[in-house]
Formats: sequence, structure tokens, C-alpha cells
Amino acid sequence: MNEILRKEVLAPRITEFEVYAPEIAAKAQPGHFVILRVHEKGERIPLTIADYDAVKGTITMVSQEVGKTTSQLATLEVGDSLADLVGPLGTPMHIEKVGCVVCVSGGLGVAPMYPKARRFYELGSKVVSFIGAQTKEMLIFKERMEKVSHHVGYSTDDGSFGHHGFVTDLLRKFLESGKEVDEVVAIGPLPMMRAAARVTRDFGVKTVVSLNPIMVDGTGMCGGCRVTVGGEVKFACVDGPAFDGHKVDFEELMARQNRFLEEERIAMERFRAQGEGCKCQER
Ligand code: FAD
Ligand code: FES
Ligand code: MG
Repeated sequence: MNEILRKEVLAPRITEFEVYAPEIAAKAQPGHFVILRVHEKGERIPLTIADYDAVKGTITMVSQEVGKTTSQLATLEVGDSLADLVGPLGTPMHIEKVGCVVCVSGGLGVAPMYPKARRFYELGSKVVSFIGAQTKEMLIFKERMEKVSHHVGYSTDDGSFGHHGFVTDLLRKFLESGKEVDEVVAIGPLPMMRAAARVTRDFGVKTVVSLNPIMVDGTGMCGGCRVTVGGEVKFACVDGPAFDGHKVDFEELMARQNRFLEEERIAMERFRAQGEGCKCQER
């Protein structure tokens, strides 16, 4: 159980894992996530279920190395097993057929976006996708998103592929063109989702974002993932992670996201000092 059946490096420090988890695969829906531990003394981290196959009994996750645990996860190889994997967690995103949905993804956000765009597409909605990355090299899920979209636009921060600038520039241009849009889904770094929600507010278009606050238990008990939405306290792990982007208090969320920067920096330094690459030892 929890064995890694496939591992693929998609871009520098971004790795896709297909893991044998039949019970999770049987119930997974777009918007669900899992919480895993790399080894039995490791911390718990949430990752979105980017794909699932109930017949094979597998789920797919894409992880970006940003700190100790995601770096440690990247050292696992095919045949290794995760210490544990809990899920599917969260409330699946409500997806119904609409005339036109615009899916705006920033960076790694395209991986969680994929199952949602696919569901909209399968239901017969027109899917327009805008995908932003730092550079062409960092662009992932290109072919997969093209298969489930009627139109895809790209942007890169350095101009190496597509529009030179922010992915939200593409969104604004599209809305300004007067095309009818029923819903926008935005997934990516918090500043990008906040920017997307600001753009769509001007046009009065419904906007769903997928939040990524710090989570511990993932079942609504620890309070770590508290977010304020429309003035009400919500727990992203059970009430979300998808919320109305026009109602999210992004400033509060961004401040809460930085609560443990010092501890995270120390953990990463210790991990590096003891030699990246050894996956078994607790660090
Ligand atoms: P650290 O150095 O410990 O932390 C780096 C930053 O990551 C922190 O500053 C904080 O902002 C964030 N973070 C740290 N611990 C947690 C935690 N327990 N929960 C949430 N955020 C944390 N990342 C992916 O690469 N792929 C995904 O598909 C993905 N899906 C996510 C889905 C949800 C619902 C949530 C809440 C987060 C998701 N993340 C995803 C983010 C991922 O969980 C963090 O990048 C990871 O926990 C960082 O751990 P670390 O030890 O490597 O980094
Ligand atoms: Fe603990 Fe949501 S992660 S309440
Ligand atoms: Mg960590």
C-alpha cells in the first residue's frame, strides 16, 4: 500500500508520483487532496490529487520542492512506499456544465486544475485555460491541459513562452474582449489568486479559488487551516479548499502562511547539512 509505481520529474524541482492507493482512488473527485508522511517520524503535508484511476487503484500527485518535506519526498523512488497517506480529504469542487469556464493556473496550480478542467470539459462546457509559469522550462501539464481545453493561452515571467507577464493579464484581456464567461477558476500562489479575483470582480464574474493554508490533521480539528471567507471563519480542509475568491481575506491568509518561516528555514538547513538524498533518517 502507498507504493510509488511511477515517478517523473516534470520540471526542475517538480516531480509527479503515481502511488498505489486503491481505496483513495475509488473515491477521489476533482478538488480532493491527501495528507501524507514520507516516513513515520515525518511531518504531515497536504498534496492535491492531480489525477486518479479507480481501475488501476492509483492516485497521482505533483510535488514542488519548497522545503524539507517536499525535498525529502523527491528522494523517494519507484518501489518505495509512503509511510502513510490519508484521503481523499476536503470537499470536492462543485462542477456543473456551464457555457464557458476560464481556468487560470499559476505555477504548480496547473496540476490541481487539471482534474477540474477535465470535468468541465467532459460535461460539455467550453473550457478556456490560461497557464502561467516562471519560464518555459517550468511549464508543466501542457499537453494534458490542451486535451481538455478548447483554447489555451500561456504566459511566462521571463517571456520565454507565450505572453511576457502575468497570467492574469491574459484573463483581463479575455474578459475585456467581451466574451461571455460564466465562471472563472483560479489556482496558484496566493498573490496570483488574489489578482485573478480582483480582475474578475471588475467584470462581476463568479470566481472560485483553491486555498492552500497550512494544514496539519486535514479533518477540521486542529484549526491550522483557518481562513476568513465572507467574514466567517472556515476551515479549508473540510469547508474547502475551494472558496468564492471574491470573499476570501487573502491578506490574513498570506500573513498566516508565513507563521513558521524560521522553523521551516532551520528544518531545511538541517536536512541539507545531513545530506539530501537519504530518505530514511529522521531530520
Ligand atoms: P516548508 O519549508 O515546511 O514550508 C514551505 C511553505 O509551504 C510554508 O511557508 C508554507 O507556506 C507551506 N507549508 C508548510 N507546511 C505546510 C502544511 N503542512 N500545509 C500546507 N502548507 C504548508 N504543494 C504541491 O507541491 N503540490 C500540490 O498538489 C499541493 N497541494 C496542496 C493542497 C492543499 C489543500 C494545501 C493546503 C497545500 C498544497 N500544497 C501542494 C502545498 C504543500 O502542502 C506545501 O508546499 C508543503 O507542505 C511544504 O512542505 P515543506 O516541508 O517542503 O516546506
Ligand atoms: Fe486542521 Fe484544517 S488542517 S482544521
Ligand atoms: Mg515543512
